[in-house]
Amino acid sequence: MLRRCRQPLAWVLGQCGLGRPPRANNVADEIRFESGTGSEHAGMHGAAILWPKPLDRAWCGFAHGREKFGSAHTNALMANAALPSRVTLPRQEGTESEKRLEKRLPLDPPGPYSTLASILKGRSGRANIVTRSVRQPMSTMKGLLLLAIAGLAVAEDGLNAWLRYSPVANAQALRGRLPTGLVALNTTQGSPVNTAAKELTQGLNGLFGVRLSAAKGDGKGGDRPRNAVTVGTVAQFVNANPTVRIALPELIEDGFHINVSGGNVRILGQNERGALYGAFHYLSLVAQGNVSDFSLASNPEAPVRWVNQWDNTQDGGTHGSVERGYGGKSVFFWEGRIREDLTRAGQYARLLASIGINAVVVNNVNANATLLAPELMDGLARIANVFRPYGIQLGFSLNFAAPQMYGNLSTFDPLDKSVIEFWQNVTDNLYARIPDMAGYLVKASSEGQPGPLTYNRTLADGANLFARALQKHNGICVFRAFVYDHRNLNQTLDWKADRANAAVNFFEGLDDKFEPNVLVQIKYGPIDFQVREPVSPLFSHLRKTGAAIELQVTQEYLGQQAHVVYLAPMWKEILDFDLRVDAKPSRVADIVTGKRFNTTLSGYAGVVNVGMNTTWLGSHLAMSNLYAYGKLAWSASADPAAILSEWTKLTFSSDPDVLRVIADISLASWPAYENYSGNLGIQTLCDILLGHYGPNPGSQDGNPWGQWTRADADTIGMDRTVKNGTGNAGQYPPEVAALYENIDTTPDNLLLWFHHVPYTHVLKSGKTVIQHFYDAHYNGSAVAQTFPKLWESLKGKIDPERYEHVLYRLVYQAGHSLVWRDSVNNFYFNKSGIADAQGRVGNYKYRIEAESMKLEGYQVYDVRPFEAASGAKAIVTTSNSTQGIASTVVGVESGKYDLAVNYYDQAIGNSTWELFLDEKLVGKWKGDQEYILGKAASPYIDGQTATRVTFKGVRVDKGAVLKVVGTPDGLEPAPLDYLSILPEGVVD
Ligand code: GCU
Repeated sequence: MLRRCRQPLAWVLGQCGLGRPPRANNVADEIRFESGTGSEHAGMHGAAILWPKPLDRAWCGFAHGREKFGSAHTNALMANAALPSRVTLPRQEGTESEKRLEKRLPLDPPGPYSTLASILKGRSGRANIVTRSVRQPMSTMKGLLLLAIAGLAVAEDGLNAWLRYSPVANAQALRGRLPTGLVALNTTQGSPVNTAAKELTQGLNGLFGVRLSAAKGDGKGGDRPRNAVTVGTVAQFVNANPTVRIALPELIEDGFHINVSGGNVRILGQNERGALYGAFHYLSLVAQGNVSDFSLASNPEAPVRWVNQWDNTQDGGTHGSVERGYGGKSVFFWEGRIREDLTRAGQYARLLASIGINAVVVNNVNANATLLAPELMDGLARIANVFRPYGIQLGFSLNFAAPQMYGNLSTFDPLDKSVIEFWQNVTDNLYARIPDMAGYLVKASSEGQPGPLTYNRTLADGANLFARALQKHNGICVFRAFVYDHRNLNQTLDWKADRANAAVNFFEGLDDKFEPNVLVQIKYGPIDFQVREPVSPLFSHLRKTGAAIELQVTQEYLGQQAHVVYLAPMWKEILDFDLRVDAKPSRVADIVTGKRFNTTLSGYAGVVNVGMNTTWLGSHLAMSNLYAYGKLAWSASADPAAILSEWTKLTFSSDPDVLRVIADISLASWPAYENYSGNLGIQTLCDILLGHYGPNPGSQDGNPWGQWTRADADTIGMDRTVKNGTGNAGQYPPEVAALYENIDTTPDNLLLWFHHVPYTHVLKSGKTVIQHFYDAHYNGSAVAQTFPKLWESLKGKIDPERYEHVLYRLVYQAGHSLVWRDSVNNFYFNKSGIADAQGRVGNYKYRIEAESMKLEGYQVYDVRPFEAASGAKAIVTTSNSTQGIASTVVGVESGKYDLAVNYYDQAIGNSTWELFLDEKLVGKWKGDQEYILGKAASPYIDGQTATRVTFKGVRVDKGAVLKVVGTPDGLEPAPLDYLSILPEGVVD
């Protein structure tokens, strides 16, 4: 896959890069429309998005408030065109076909901030350089080092993430302090120690041009190697050096020790995996230029540091190849089988091992029972073989009803003898193929998934069924606490109904009922990965049962990697939260590392959901979240800013500007996202009925999913108090319960999570709730506007490929943050009727509404939810085969302006829009984001698809005719919301 360029960089740029087809790096090769909350594939909103149906959100089945909108236009479109159920492109397996797809698919479009000249030049005219800077052969090292010093950046595609091993700036000067020899204490192919040796060889070569040679002397007979790096386990070291006496620190499972003294380096693990972790750690230090002498020991705080992939065996359905995955298709599965080519699975294992992850659950928690077929078990064993050299064990998600669905039994009752036998048999068969399998992950009795509750059995009965089958194999059963009833919660009739209460209620009385090899995996908050939640009270209820915290690296509710949101500060806040169990310090981190309740099984699960895209997650900057997840799972005391800085150095460079800019963007990103999505603990406010992406505050209420806000014309928030509400506050230990029960002591950022208040309620800040909403949305989106500019200051300091890729997303995010701002503000303005004290909401002085322009071939369209369009209306072409023109005479004084156009990029076609000033083309763009951004695709004109393009510094003359020509494509009717003529520097 890597195209190797064995020439100096100048030649590389000329021959390998320019003139070749640019790398598209698109994340989607076919489009699917995801259902919303929950995973019940044939469920109510899952079914609601099946074609052919009128392309109107009304039939989503839930009321969106008082407004009613028609759908004549889209009905007409539907009648005119045969709508494909999906846009489908070739489906051959593997990298080759994906390469072909890259060529067929639209390439990265010009950034919305691009100048007219570059847009007119067209995509193919852009210089895309496809070489990577890893593993340059020795002959090119000198040249590369010089160029690295000169600060020139080589294009990269992200595949190697933070393990690039690209030349360090002052490699020549540091080389004298590095080892030249290698002693690997286990050279068995496939052993983690052997992998460590290979990694050290590759790493020191890439970073410094040092070629490690096998050192003479293995220590036996006093013949000690000099200037060598020795890597292995403590036991292997002692065995190879029986006469040597050195003091070794105490190591626990997976721990490691590193001693550096000049060129002599000793890396010893408690086990082979630990030795590999040590090698990666050493490499990360030297990659950051640290070659001084030191000695350190590092032990993980928790034994379970797992990754969950929500990969489906089959593409399609409402969730595609990877449920809530935004980086392309599964690296494991293809067309119901395990991929023949597991190269990417191996590369993934390498990345994960380098951050201390020790197991990966490869298939979706909404598990497919057919994976139990012998040939698929064989395939799983192939994945395990690819993982093993990296010390990664394979975990497997089970479908609770498999005895019935796959085994043809009449029941899946966990206490039934035939069911017990079925699972023992399955488990034995799996372990016969994968003797070191980590265990099972079970989602049961949740969101339509089968489980023990079907037979009135307890969750413990369910978990123990698998735990017992696993015991003789030393496997563990990870049982998810994400159990709730999404069908019968009634918001209207039951003030006390609360999904947040479900986990504690279901686990009540079970703490001493679980087998010792059961671990309960608990999402950080009581609902579902929202931008702000209190920690789950269940952490304080399980004292005898091991608990793991479930974090989500994939940004399901938090921007789906199309928005930068650095999550480590949020995770850190959760891990540091003190639950005060029995009035004693009880940090969540101490509970999930087993310290607080002396549990042996404990740890972390990160839902990661990488895909085949070379960026893994769909966005380069999102990878800091994966890195940070591993680091925090190793040690919760790690500092998010320090983790980010380390990640930046390894992923991009140590240039102070690069470090500063990435820190400025990343550390501001979670507060900004919270500000422009959902504040004061009201939840994220995205569309929970479709895709979980763009704004749709109305989707939270009026359905049984239980993510309610209870917003009406006067009041908002969930009353979770004991005295008057759902009682959820009372699920916390007394000190915390008292904090949340009392509105005066509840922190503002969780106010609406725990209390139902008037919009006029005054916060501790002195602002009313409604004014806080307005201000926060303006402030948050203003912060997002700074991101593209900050990034642009790094031009030339980041390789062009990643620079452009990131810039495209940041520009998109800046535009979409305005969509968020206006949608949420207008929604609550409309509900409450309370004006913004600063007069901004509803007043947009630079805007020209498309519906107020002169229209030819375009017609006005009522958008729903109404707040997804400025003025509740957009325009769409009158047919799906004819152009539309919207024009107006410019009224502003002549001068230079930024022209912003808000349009909708639906995933049902690739319309083209052209912007003219007096017949002179200002810009032209295509609606093809569905192939590029990776976020959940939407067929609707709504908050998911609303998008902005900006043309900067355009000369506008008073009286000129401003015109947009929209050319529809497929079923996308070139929808247009509004234009803004903004004085330079103003964003609105
Ligand atoms: C969320 C998510 C689902 C997922 C579920 C889970 O509800 O939207 O896709 O299946 O969580 O964690 O099981």
